Amino acid sequence: MDESILKLKGDENKIKKIIEIFNAEKNDEFFLKNNRIGRIFVPATGNVDAKIALIGEAPGRDEEKLREPFVGKAGMNLNYVLEKVGLNRNELYITNIFKFRPFDNEGKNRKPNAKESSRGLFYLKKELKVINPRLIVCLGATAASTLLGKSISMRSSVNQLFSLDSFKVLITYHPSPFNFNRKELQQSIIESFQLIKEIVNQI
Ligand code: URA
Repeated sequence: MDESILKLKGDENKIKKIIEIFNAEKNDEFFLKNNRIGRIFVPATGNVDAKIALIGEAPGRDEEKLREPFVGKAGMNLNYVLEKVGLNRNELYITNIFKFRPFDNEGKNRKPNAKESSRGLFYLKKELKVINPRLIVCLGATAASTLLGKSISMRSSVNQLFSLDSFKVLITYHPSPFNFNRKELQQSIIESFQLIKEIVNQI
């Protein structure tokens, strides 16, 4: 992969391993054959030594353009929340379940389907093993249900801690404009990130 576009910092050995995973993922037969996804691979961003890993769904048009997760409207909302609670992007590893932009018949962004998510998860699990964060944060139901392998009711799962292999996993609402325009959900996301800070300081 074109390593010059990578915005990863931290341990060089870890970065090397992550690049190997991304190269395999980028050239995965399943993705190459799927004509309802963009051809541009959007890698993770941030600190490979981070205690917190944020997992989104899939990149949109802005992310595809800049080849970096969460740089569009949802990214601006995320930045707003991070600033509110005093967290810095440098303290985070930010990635997606699915690393290509999925689109519908009209070319609009869509959620990754079950097959795309499950193939993306295959690589994401390898990624997380290398990063070894103290806490994994799922941004929204797609990330949560894919990672935990079961359907998730957001209402009852937000701010709950789950276990996955040796990892602790916390679920928040996705900072999408759709959620963020609803004041109670925006507030819930801010509270989640306050909690995330507290949890990470304790473990
Ligand atoms: N939404 C996501 O889930 N991921 C991104 O990278 C951008 C928006």
